[in-house]
This record gives sequence, structure tokens and C-alpha cells, in this order.
Amino acid sequence: MGARRPGRRRRGAGVTGDRNRDERRGAGRSGGGDQRRAAGRAGRRPGPTVDSARRAAYDAVAAVHRDDAFANLVLPALLTERGLHGRDAAFATELTYGTLRALGTLDAVLASASGREVERIDPPARDALRLGAYQLLHTRVPAHAAVSASVDLVHSVAPGAAGFANAVLRRVAERDLDAWVAELAPSADTDPVGHLAVAYSHPRWIVRAFLDALDGDVGETTRLLIEDNERPPVHLAARPGRIDAVTLADETGGAPGAFSPYAVYLPGGAPGELPAVAQGRAHVQDEGSQLVAAALVAAPLEGPDVRWLDLCAGPGGKAGLLGALAAQRGAAVTAVEVAEHRARLVEQAVRGLPVTVRAVDGRTVGADPDLPAGGFDRVLVDAPCTGLGSLRRRPESRWRRQPSDLPPLTRLQRELLGAALRAVRPGGVVAYVTCSPHTVETHVTVTESARRSDVPVDFVDARPLLPAGMPGLGDGPTVQLWPHRHGTDAMFLAVLRREGAA
Ligand SMILES: C[S@@+](CC[C@H](N)C(=O)[O-])C[C@H]1O[C@@H](n2cnc3c(N)ncnc32)[C@H](O)[C@@H]1O
Repeated sequence: MGARRPGRRRRGAGVTGDRNRDERRGAGRSGGGDQRRAAGRAGRRPGPTVDSARRAAYDAVAAVHRDDAFANLVLPALLTERGLHGRDAAFATELTYGTLRALGTLDAVLASASGREVERIDPPARDALRLGAYQLLHTRVPAHAAVSASVDLVHSVAPGAAGFANAVLRRVAERDLDAWVAELAPSADTDPVGHLAVAYSHPRWIVRAFLDALDGDVGETTRLLIEDNERPPVHLAARPGRIDAVTLADETGGAPGAFSPYAVYLPGGAPGELPAVAQGRAHVQDEGSQLVAAALVAAPLEGPDVRWLDLCAGPGGKAGLLGALAAQRGAAVTAVEVAEHRARLVEQAVRGLPVTVRAVDGRTVGADPDLPAGGFDRVLVDAPCTGLGSLRRRPESRWRRQPSDLPPLTRLQRELLGAALRAVRPGGVVAYVTCSPHTVETHVTVTESARRSDVPVDFVDARPLLPAGMPGLGDGPTVQLWPHRHGTDAMFLAVLRREGAA
């Protein structure tokens, strides 16, 4: 099975344990006691102080909810701006990402403990309460420290609500997470989807979609939801021809991946600062993304094999790997990306590789002279999708995505796959990829596109295109990777061959 350890509900990480000891010793790095004494000596009424890690976490969570910000962009900027490093930065990160992931469960608990819908609590107090409830239910921060620090935070962002927050958080602290779930979640027997949604903090429609994609297996779905709530590992791709995975692992202190021959698992740190990444010998890329890009190249092909197309290339992860493989095989890649700024990112990602970037709509195949119909031997469609397969990387996205996102996305997916089938030459291969396991975006899109295609196509069994011996690949011909089975994002892969000879 996969390289990940079996999941368990998170109860706290080492960083909170360290911090916990500091708080017991009263060694808050904000120097709250000193500041209070200094303010008292100066004759001013001392206000509560909020330590810098909790304040940064609050500001990040508030920006996500108020401004639709992305936590993985806003938090690093806040940490840099405020000079937070080491354990403070780690604590702020855990609070921010953990609170955003656990939001559904936290809100259910807060609604019960406060006796009102969370929507009726003022946004600043609500976000501070969420951070407090997260500390109480998911970390080893002592309850008294979590409550008093959170009440201080509420005092500073919503002064009138401090007493209310104190009462609510004391009620939250009366039970642990399991007891709250037992009280609030629907019965697992009569409403398994509702139970999992509350117990593992996912919207119901997403739990239902996962359960469908996993053939109704509740145990597997539970393991998947647990993985989604874990901090995701960082994977590097060693660019073939520039460095191999073993050398990259030695150089970075990482470990070679379980499946992709290019993968290295990093223990932590800032991957962008690694020399191998800065020098373009490697890039950050989930192992599942490496596997599906490499599968396109592994598909057997008769006739010419020099013109490759990446129809949805931004920001350029798969184009980087395809470009490195193309360089080894004397092929060249055309990388298409409709969004201008993302096309620029692709250009940066493929520097020095035989890749030409075109900032055009991929659906213009046949109309654009650079995208001739029947002009490519291999085509990748890494389609825009809901991203339900990489929820662990974007803590807030499970709450932003809506079922209403599906119809426009699936329409676009079919149009892009249709364009890819026009772009490939007779005998050539198309890989259709999503980072979503939702069956409407996977099986329904490919079967419908194949059925409606103007050119006749056959499904190729994708399983032999992945590394030999890889477990959990199902009955084919398509492949669905899973975080809980493979330690990768939940990437879907279908490979189609246009009938006919070159
Ligand atoms: C899932 S992402 C691709 C990720 C990329 N392959 C990688 O590995 O880094 C989908 C991309 O398709 C682009 N896209 C959306 N509509 C498109 C269209 N009509 N033509 C070309 N690209 C499109 C989006 O802007 C987005 O960058």
C-alpha cells in the first residue's frame, strides 16, 4: 500500500506540545506580562495582549473569510511581514490551516455551545472563537491557556464580545472532540454521509462524491477524509536528465518516493530555497502529478513521436516534467495556457527545456496555426476542475467549492478533451487528467467526450503505464490515485488513442 501512515484524527502536533510547555512556564514570547507591567507603571489601563502567532493566525483566517484570500498566500506574507520564525511561525501555521480545515466541525460545536447559529456571531468574534475552539479540541494547548488567549484575542478584535467568548469557550472545553462528535453528528448507521461530514469536517456533497467514487466504501472514505485533514507532504520532482531522485534525496535530506522514479519526499522546510529547485534541476510537484504526466509518455506509440502538446499547462508543473522527458527523447512540447499570467509562470517553469508556451485558448485547435488538427503525437489535458483531489493542500477550498461549480467546469472539460482529440494524429494518444475524483469530472466527462468525438477513439488501459507493482489501481482502463492509498493527490487518469495509423 501507500507510503503514508494510517490516518488518525489529529490531536495535536509537536509544535503545540513545545508551546504548551512554554505557556505552562509563562514564557510567552510576546512578553505580555512585561508589557502589562510597563503599561501599568505608565498609568495607562492595560489592555489584553495577544501573542504574535495567534494574532497572525487570526489575521490570516479573517482575510480568508473577509477577502476571499487564499491561506497559503496570505499566511506566509503575514509571517514574513511580522518577522515570525521557528516555533511561532509553526504554531501560527498549524492554527490557521487546522482551523480552516476543521471549520465545519468547529462551527457545529460553537453553534451548540453558544446556542445560536454561527452566522449570527459577528465575523471578528466568530473567527477568534473558531481559533479558540480549534486549540481546545485539536491541540495540546492547555484549556485555560487556549481560553484566556482566545478571550484576549476577542477583546482586541471585538471588545464587546469578550464575555460571550469566555462563556462559549468554557462550554466548548467541557468535552473533548470525540464527545462533541458523538453528541452533534448524525448517526453513522442511518446517515453515514452526515456523520462523516461532521466527524471529519467536510461538506456533505463532497463526502457523498468521495463515497460514490470509492464505490460506497465507508471505511475507505473515512481514511480519505482523515488524510485530507493532515498536513500534506512536500514532494519534489527530479527533472530527468538534470538530476536523479537518489542524488536529489541526498542533496535535500529527503527520501526517494515510493512510486514515481522522479519523486523525492521532503522532510519539511522551504522547498523554493533549495539549490536544486532554484537551479531548475527539480521542481515542487505532487507525486501523483508526476505519475500521470509520465504515463502519457509511457503509452506505446507507433510512428513519429516528437510533437507533444500540453493543452492546460499553467502554472507549468507537468510541462516541466514533460519538457525534461522531451529533451531526452528529441521531442518538443507546445504548452498552451489561456490565462496570460499563468502562461508567464509556465515560461519560468520550462526555462531551458524544449517547450514553446502559447497563451491561447486550448479550444482553438484547428483554428490556430500553432495548434493544427491532427498535429500532435501525444496530448495532455490536465483539465480545470473542482480540485477535490487536493483539498489537503488548500485548507479553505472545501468550503468554497459548491456543487454549482460542476456544470460549467464539466462543459469546459468536455470541450478541452474534444479539442485534444482533434489535436492528436491518428494512432496518437491523449491523457485526460483531473485533480478531482468526482465521477462527473472523471468517468462521465471521458465517456461522454469519447462518445461525442468526431474522431474514433479507444480507451488504453492506463494501469500498465504506471510503475510496475503499484497497488490499488482498480479494474482499469482508467486509474484513480488516492491520498489514503498512494500518498498522492487524488489524480484521475484516462488514456485514449485515436484510431488509425500515423
Ligand atoms: C489543473 S490546471 C493545470 C495544471 C498544470 N498542468 C500543472 O501541472 O501545473 C488547469 C489550467 O487550465 C487553464 N485553462 C482553463 N481553461 C483553459 C482553456 N480554455 N485553454 C487552455 N487552458 C485553460 C487554467 O487557467 C489552469 O491554469
